Amino acid sequence: MLSKMIVAMTLRMPRWFVRWVSRRYVAGATLDDAVRVMQRLESEGACFTIDVLGEEISSMDEAQYFLDEYVRVMNAIVEHDIDANLSIKPTAFGLLINKEQGLENIESLVRQASQHDMFVRLDMEDHRVTTETIQVVLDLHAKGLTNVGTVLQGRLHRTPDDIESVASTIGSNADYRICKGIYLEPEEIAYTSKSDIRCKTNEAIRMALEHGAYVGIASHDVPVVDYTLAVLDEFKMGPSIEDPRENSGPDRKGKGPGYEFQMLLGVRGPMRRKLTKAGHRTRVYIPYGEKWYEYSIRRLQENPTIGLQIAKAFLMPWTNRP
Ligand code: FDA
Repeated sequence: MLSKMIVAMTLRMPRWFVRWVSRRYVAGATLDDAVRVMQRLESEGACFTIDVLGEEISSMDEAQYFLDEYVRVMNAIVEHDIDANLSIKPTAFGLLINKEQGLENIESLVRQASQHDMFVRLDMEDHRVTTETIQVVLDLHAKGLTNVGTVLQGRLHRTPDDIESVASTIGSNADYRICKGIYLEPEEIAYTSKSDIRCKTNEAIRMALEHGAYVGIASHDVPVVDYTLAVLDEFKMGPSIEDPRENSGPDRKGKGPGYEFQMLLGVRGPMRRKLTKAGHRTRVYIPYGEKWYEYSIRRLQENPTIGLQIAKAFLMPWTNRP
């Protein structure tokens, strides 16, 4: 209750206050800000994936902006020799406005990234684009571009079928991020209770690992992380152990031994550092961009429990950093 009240008050505050609150979760407005944050977190042993912030676009000119900006990100990663890859939203590249041009934009970025051995993750948006997003990955793999993968959401009923069908097409070249899913999908297509979502996310993680895929476990939820650690143990996978799965597929240059943990900037840093210390590969999702205000407001509305973090930041300002 208190937390919700704090969030409601924050939503009425001026931009500078929202920026101060969100500095922990958003690297900043510019690419230089993102580079600075990554250079600082590198000392904690993290690697990164970068997200250029944006809301749903309404013209193909905006899609061009995202393509150009991600090329700048790619060049900055190479120039600064940072262990990082790209996370893109297919709709920001135009998928829902002009499908053909949107696909061309995504292919262009993935092709340029492949020249630097860089991976591109298609973030998963809401159910309007689940099928298309998975299809983009399959089409690009069919064209020989294997440096691309997507995200599967544990909450969706369809996820086990997606794991099966992707495996039957690209086998263990599949590379997933598995998360609970942030979109509140209708109950006809998704689990809606907290415990079901957690349970189904765990099942998806196990299933993807069983199918030989590379799996990014994107969760800050202790039971999900603990479950994953138990499954890794069962599969005899772990830090510094060459991926022992018979179906583990190609040599995955620059990745972890079949899996990695992924977390959002500013969320559960102590847990991430503990996993890194234990030798697991851990990746931090770094959002930056001119749309930091809209993104921050959306996150506050989605996660009212953040209110307590705001109160903590106010009382102990030195803790308010990623
Ligand atoms: P849960 O929501 O139970 O969180 C556990 C605890 O972590 C909370 O109690 C809180 O303390 C903390 N926490 C979690 N999220 C927080 C936040 N935003 N701010 C502050 N504290 C927070 N979803 C999607 O639909 N498509 C996608 O492509 C992605 N991509 C993605 C990448 C990465 C790296 C991560 C970590 C997550 C995503 N997600 C996503 C979001 C994901 O689906 C999910 O909504 C959130 O991670 C929250 O779920 P948890 O598993 O962390 O559990």
